[in-house]
Amino acid sequence: MAGVSPVAAQLPTYGVGRAPTAEEVKAWDITIPADGQGLPPGSGTAALGKAIYAERCASCHGEKGEDAKYNRLVGGHGSLATAQPIRTIGSFWQYATTLWSYINRAQPLDEPGSLTADHVYAVTAYLLHLNGIIGEQDIMDAKTLPLVKMPNRGGFVPDPRPDVGRR
Ligand code: HEC
Repeated sequence: MAGVSPVAAQLPTYGVGRAPTAEEVKAWDITIPADGQGLPPGSGTAALGKAIYAERCASCHGEKGEDAKYNRLVGGHGSLATAQPIRTIGSFWQYATTLWSYINRAQPLDEPGSLTADHVYAVTAYLLHLNGIIGEQDIMDAKTLPLVKMPNRGGFVPDPRPDVGRR
């Protein structure tokens, strides 16, 4: 509602709702930005992530992440500027940190939020490994994940069209 602050909207005028507590806000505020700030303790490797992926992810994304039934996660390198672009983690995503954040928040699709921090580090590592970005034994944690250089990091450019450009 225009002009009404979110707090005012929750005043007990109608006897419903209340302002969330600081802990409740914190529980929802789980987005990890590109610089990786707020990544929790824990770690994982591709070697550890393989079994978790097979159990929790492969049914929808394929054994090696190349199934196009839902979102394809692996391959497509160098395809974005061609007539048949294939958008995957390896060909499209800019940051490994936001990949961690997305998996932590939204996957597996049928049970989001059910993975532990260690499991998210491990499946993230496995998907980075399947895309040829890190080694099978490379340890992914709050320190190393922000250092991963994604292949398409430099692939995002400002839109040159004058009507959508920066003002
Ligand atoms: C029940 C089917 C299902 C399961 C199980 C599942 N996913 Fe997904 N996943 C999807 C669908 C559907 C999408 C597309 C969602 C959308 O676009 O909003 C998706 C999207 C994604 C994406 C984003 C891809 C992109 O480039 O946009 C990632 C990463 C991902 N899944 C990882 C995982 C991981 C890791 C697991 C296991 C922990 C998993 N998924 C389990 C169905 C599934």
